[in-house]
Order: sequence, then structure tokens, then C-alpha cells
Amino acid sequence: MARVELKQITKSFGSFKAVHESDVLFEEGSFTTLLGPSGCGKTTILRMVSGLESPTSGDIMIGGKRINDVPIHKRNLGLVFQNYALFPHRTIAENIAFGLKYRGVSKADAAQKVKDALEIVRLPGVEDRYPSQLSGGQQQRIAMARAIVIEPDVLLLDEPLSALDANLREDMRVELKAIQHRIGVTSIFVTHDQSEALAMSDRIIVMSAGRIEQVGAPEEVYNNPASEFVANFLGASNIVAVDVKGRGADDVTLEVPHFGAVTLHANRAVNLGDAAKGKLVIRAEKLHLSDGAAPEGAVSTKGVVEAVDYQGQLARYFVRIGDVQFQAMNMIDGAPFAQGAEVSVVLNPDDCSVLANEA
Ligand SMILES: Nc1ncnc2c1ncn2[C@@H]1O[C@H](COP(=O)(O)OP(=O)(O)O)[C@@H](O)[C@H]1O
Ligand SMILES: [Mg+2]
Repeated sequence: MARVELKQITKSFGSFKAVHESDVLFEEGSFTTLLGPSGCGKTTILRMVSGLESPTSGDIMIGGKRINDVPIHKRNLGLVFQNYALFPHRTIAENIAFGLKYRGVSKADAAQKVKDALEIVRLPGVEDRYPSQLSGGQQQRIAMARAIVIEPDVLLLDEPLSALDANLREDMRVELKAIQHRIGVTSIFVTHDQSEALAMSDRIIVMSAGRIEQVGAPEEVYNNPASEFVANFLGASNIVAVDVKGRGADDVTLEVPHFGAVTLHANRAVNLGDAAKGKLVIRAEKLHLSDGAAPEGAVSTKGVVEAVDYQGQLARYFVRIGDVQFQAMNMIDGAPFAQGAEVSVVLNPDDCSVLANEA
């Protein structure tokens, strides 16, 4: 176990800067996710930690030691990638023990370590089988066993679940997190899938175009996005330009078009500063539609349902309010609202956050 620190790290490919000056800390024993759209630099960061790629500038520290010049095979890292690449003509035991051979582990010790690793990934007794005799999810667990059998200081996982189909992916993300919890190894996980990141991570690092947008616990980045990019990348958000009407000791009052005055706790306006204008972030699932009048005292307005995206338990509604279309993701209570329905649209100020205009 070790903490990993990147200091003012950059990576350029020719004249293209894939990673801009970034300071990143992966705490010892934590499960940290690099989250962002395809091409934002996640894999490049992982490859720099692994030694497959050297940084253009900056330092990489593992366990307090600068390792820029330490070759890949001396970094003691466990790697798991999307295409888990087991050797098809070798048994599961041989696949898992592969990395042990180069570490001078005796045959008997290797057999015990393989057995222990298979216990940890909950696939005991499959030593003598071949990869093709296992399902995709089981093969991915073998890839995990192969990565952890060497007792790595750090586990690097690059989209390890994206080759699996949707149901299995959800099971595996619980399983993978449980494995990490059992061994407590510092883990760096890369994904473009926000729900995977929210479900699995102790901390999430949200990236966009080679830069870090926000770092925080899942609830933090979800509930208090630091930028419009983060608000949109982690789920659907309505973002509305607002005027700041007043500031109290621990609250901020905004004038929100159509809804009127909305007062938020100051901790929902972290980066607003003294600005006179800002942007209100309203999560789609926090905007509630009702066919009756809004409850007394609620912050509400009237709207018209323009489109319905029916999802079984849930529906995503596109609601016209004045000249703006809002998204509302609501549980269906009875029948969903029909296209053309006139509805009350209610927002709970405690569920909103506000950004500075340039964020
Ligand atoms: N070896 C390379 N040569 C040139 N460009 C590269 C190389 N590797 C990555 N890139 C570019 O760097 C950017 C970040 O890539 P990558 O880290 O793989 O993104 P992600 O993993 O977030 O999808 C992309 O624009 C990609 O095309
Ligand atoms: Mg990638």
C-alpha cells in the first residue's frame, strides 16, 4: 500500500498537450476514480503512473519516492485493463502466477498465493481450468487475481468493466469494490461512466480536456458541482442564469426567471464569491412535476410537457417554461404525464447549487 502523488505533471504528444499542469493525490488505501469523457487524458495519467509513458514535466511519487526514472517492472503495480488478455493456452493458475515467476517466488509459495488470490476474488478451485471455460465476468476476476497476487503497492484499473454487458457490469462493480476493500490496496480506477464512478469511488477526480475540473467524494461532486461541465457530466442538470438579490449571514437569495426568489444555504454557493450574477444548477431528478397546484410556500411555476422519455419506473420529461426547456426526471406515480400536459414545476432550494458565471 502506498500513496501516489503527481506534482505539476504534464504530458505532450508533439505539440498536443494531453495533460495540463496537474497536482493529483491518490491517498493510501483509497479507491480513486479518474472520470471524464473519452480523450480527456485519463489513460495518459494512468500510463504515466504505470511507467508505460513518461511525463513531459513534473514528478510522480509513490510512497514518498520519486519514481520517474524507475522502470515499469520495478514499480510493483497491479494492472487491469479492459481487454484483460489472459493467455488462452495456459491454465488459470499459470495465468495468475505469471507475474510471480519473475519475482523469484518458489513453486509451492506460488501455488498458495494463487489459491489465496482466487479466494479473494471468490473463485476458489478453478486453478486447472482454461480461460475459455470461464464466463466474461469470471475471466475479469481472474485478471484481478493476476493483478493482486503480486501484492502490488498500487492497483491501476483502466475501464476494466467496459467490455462486459450491462447487467454483469453492475454486479462486477460491486464485486470489484469489495475485492479492493478486502485487500485495502491503493487503487486508481479510470472510467467515462459516471454511475460507475459514483458507485465505486472514495474520491472522484473529474477531468475535461486534459485538466482537472473537480476533486471530491461522490456526493460532493454530485451535489456541489464546481463547474457547468461537472454539473452536466454527472447526470442531467438544468442550468439557469440568475441574479443575486441578497446575501445573509449563511444564505444567498437569487432571482430565478419564472420561479421568483429562491434562497439557498451559503454552502450551496461555494464558488459564487461576490458576483452579482450566477448560474443555478437544478438536477433533473430534483425538479418535480405535479398536476395539481404546487404546495403552499413551494418555489414553483407552471410548465407544459413537450416530450416524455418513458423509462419504466421513471420518466424523463422535457418541460417548456417560458422560452426555456427544462428536464425533469421523476418517479412515475400512477400514469406518466402525457405530452401537452400542463403541470406545476416545483424546485426545492436545498437541492440546488449555484455557480459563478465563469465556472
Ligand atoms: N501516443 C499518443 N500519441 C498521440 N496522441 C495521443 C497518444 N496517446 C493519447 N493521445 C491523445 O491524448 C488525448 C488523451 O488520451 P487518453 O489519455 O487516452 O484519453 P482517455 O483515456 O481519457 O480517453 C487524446 O486526445 C489522445 O488522442
Ligand atoms: Mg482511456
